[in-house]
Parts: sequence; structure tokens; C-alpha cells
Amino acid sequence: MKKLLMLIIVIIAISFTATAFAGHDHMVIPYDKDGFGYKTRMPMTSAGDIRQHIIGQSPYKTWDMWPGKGKMYEGTEPHGSLLTTYVNDIALKSIKKLNGMANNSIVVKENYSPDKKLVAITVMYKVKGFNAETGDWYWVKYGPDYDTIAEGNVKGCIACHNSASANDYIFTGKVTK
Ligand code: HEC
Repeated sequence: MKKLLMLIIVIIAISFTATAFAGHDHMVIPYDKDGFGYKTRMPMTSAGDIRQHIIGQSPYKTWDMWPGKGKMYEGTEPHGSLLTTYVNDIALKSIKKLNGMANNSIVVKENYSPDKKLVAITVMYKVKGFNAETGDWYWVKYGPDYDTIAEGNVKGCIACHNSASANDYIFTGKVTK
């Protein structure tokens, strides 16, 4: 009887572990060194995990803004009239090197209406192996409360950013030689 109980517990434990790992993307290299050389856990390819990273673990508002761009600079359609764009450490280094954006680069852009209301947050997250055909970018659009509106290989984003494929799909500034 005891043995049977043990067996049931073991089976339950195994199935829990299996479900916990299912759906996680093993292509993702989830760790990288931050500016101080510490290992930082990078988010999985999911808008929820990316949200947790850019709000909780490594708040994007503490990052640098895109070099040469201040707060609420004038943008073009469709992103809104006023934009503030933040880059993580890896992205900042990449922009300076002009060698394309390195793996684990994150660009977070806040999109404001003309009367300075936050309308959306759009994110590009470079994940090696995610989708080489479109520069390995993971695309995310959040609403003003960071609710997920679109994520992944978002066709609409790619259709437009494709015209900047020679510059690693980036419009805001030159990132390649
Ligand atoms: C019709 C064209 C178009 C579409 C569609 C579009 N973008 Fe953009 N995106 C731009 C332009 C142009 C910029 C440069 C900023 C500006 O001037 O508005 C930009 C800038 C960005 C940036 C800052 C980094 C960079 O590439 O310059 C991010 C992040 C971004 N877009 C994410 C997205 C996401 C996510 C989507 C889909 C939900 C999307 N974009 C859809 C045209 C587009």
C-alpha cells in the first residue's frame, strides 16, 4: 500500500515537472552578462515574460534612451506623434559598434498621442534562433497598461520594418556599417 502511494506521488511529481517545462523555448539562451559582468536572466520569447523583465527585473525606464534621442521626440505613423525609446545595455553597445544588433538586445519604445497620453509600448527583442528570416526579432505590442496586444512574428510589424532589413530592421538610427 505504501509503495503504491509512493509510486503515485512520483508520477504526479514527474508530470508536474513535465508541464512546467513544456512550452518553454529551448532555443533561447536565457542568460547574458549585464553591464557589470553579472549574469542576468533574459526573458523567454513571450510577451508576459518580457513584460516581467522590462518592468520588474530590469526596469526599462532606468535604461539609456536611444543615443541622440530625448524624451518625447517627434515620430511618424503608425507609432504615434511622440516617442521615447529606451535600449538595454546590449542594444546600446551594438548601436555604438555599428555591427547590427547583438543577441539579447531589447528596444522599448513608448508611443504617445499629441496630448502626451501613453497609447502603446512596442518592443523589439533579439533572440538568436527565433526567426533568422526576419533578423531573429521577437515583436511585442502592449497597450498603455502593458496588456499584450500582439507578440511573436507579428506580420504587421515585419511588413513595414522589412524595408529596413539592411539596417537590422531598425529605423531610428544607423546600426550597421
Ligand atoms: C508602417 C510602418 C511600421 C509598422 C507597421 C511598425 N513600425 Fe515600428 N517603426 C517604424 C518607424 C518609421 C520607426 C522609427 C520611429 C518613427 O519615426 O516613428 C519604428 C520604430 C520602431 C521601434 C524602435 C526601433 C526601430 O526599429 O527604429 C520599435 C521597437 C518598433 N518600431 C516596434 C514595432 C512593432 C512591435 C510593430 C508592430 C506591432 C511595429 N513597430 C510596426 C515603422 C513601423
